[in-house]
Amino acid sequence: MAFPITRNRRLRQSGALRALVRETHLSVDDFIYPLFVTHGTNVKEEIPSMPGVYHLSLDLLKQEIDAVVDSGVKAVLLFGVPDTKDAVGSSAYDANGIVQQATRAIKEWTPQLLVIADTCLCQFTDHGHCGMIHHDPRTGHAEVHNDSSLELLVKTAVSQAEAGADIIAPSNMMDGFVGAIREGLDDAGFENVPILSYSVKYASAFYGPFREAAHSTPQFGDRKTYQMDPANAREALREAEADIIEGADMLMVKPALAYLDVIRMLKEHFDLPVAAYNVSAEYSMVKAAAANGWIDERAVVLETLTGMKRAGADLIITYHALDAARWLRGEA
Ligand code: PBG
Repeated sequence: MAFPITRNRRLRQSGALRALVRETHLSVDDFIYPLFVTHGTNVKEEIPSMPGVYHLSLDLLKQEIDAVVDSGVKAVLLFGVPDTKDAVGSSAYDANGIVQQATRAIKEWTPQLLVIADTCLCQFTDHGHCGMIHHDPRTGHAEVHNDSSLELLVKTAVSQAEAGADIIAPSNMMDGFVGAIREGLDDAGFENVPILSYSVKYASAFYGPFREAAHSTPQFGDRKTYQMDPANAREALREAEADIIEGADMLMVKPALAYLDVIRMLKEHFDLPVAAYNVSAEYSMVKAAAANGWIDERAVVLETLTGMKRAGADLIITYHALDAARWLRGEA
C-alpha cells in the first residue's frame, strides 16, 4: 500500500494550526459602510428589501454614526435621498443638499470618521439617469449626454469636497469623469482629496434594492449605454487604465460576487488599491435566506467577504459592515 507523502490535512488539524497558515484576513479596517441620508426629522425608515438598512434624517443620523464608531468601522459612504428632483439634478450640487448637510454634520461630530461621497446624479434627476438627457438630432432618441453630464458631476464633487468629504467616489460611468473631477477639485483647491473611482461598474440586476432604496430607477430605458456589459472582462482593464491615467487614487469593481475574476484582474494589472462593492441585492439575498433559516448568516457573510479579499479586494463596501465588525471581534 502506497501512502501519500503530501498530506495537506497536516496543517488543518487544529484551529491554531489553521490560523497559523491562514492566507487571508478580514479586518474592520477594510470596511466601508453605506448610509442613506434624507430630509425631514425623525425619519428612520427601513428599506423593505434591505432589512437593517434605513433612510435616516439628520437628527437620527448621529445615533447611527455613534454605532459606526463603536463598531470600529472607519469610513462611511453617503447616498442622498433628496426631496426635490429635476432634469439637471440640481440638488446633487446644492451647498445645502442632503449629502452636503450630512457630510458637514458627520465631520463636526466625528472628524476622524472618513466620509466618502458617492458622486452621481441618478438620485437627484427626475428621469433617474446618471447624467443629462439630450435628444439625438439624427434619431430623436433620448440619450445620456457625456460631456454636459461631466460639468454637473464636477460641480457635485466640488460641493461635496467643500462640505468636507474626505474622498470623492464618482459612480456615473461617463467617459472622462475622473479627469474632469480631478481638474475641478484641483482648481477649487482640493488637490489632496482622493478619488475612489467606480472604474468598473456593470449594468447589473444586483442594484435593484438600492434603486428602491434611493428612488433612482431610470424612468425610461436602462443604464446599458454607460454601465458595462456583464460579459466583458478585458474592457474592465481599459476602464481602469483610463481612470488611472486621469488621476484615480483607488479603483472599484461593482458588483462584487459575480465579478470576483474582475477584481483579481485589476489587482494583477495595477498597483492601486482595489475596492469591491458588495451591492444591495447581494445583501438582500443573504438576508432573505437567513430570515428563512436556510443559511447561517454570520458564516455566509464572513465567507463571502473573505472571498472578496482573497480575490484581491483591499477594501470592501458592504451593508454587512457593522455586523461583520462585531463578528470579527467574536461577538454574537
Ligand atoms: C448610483 C449608484 C448605484 C449604486 C451605487 N451608486 C445604482 C445604480 O447604478 O443604478 C448601487 C449600489 C447597490 O446596489 O448597493 N449610480
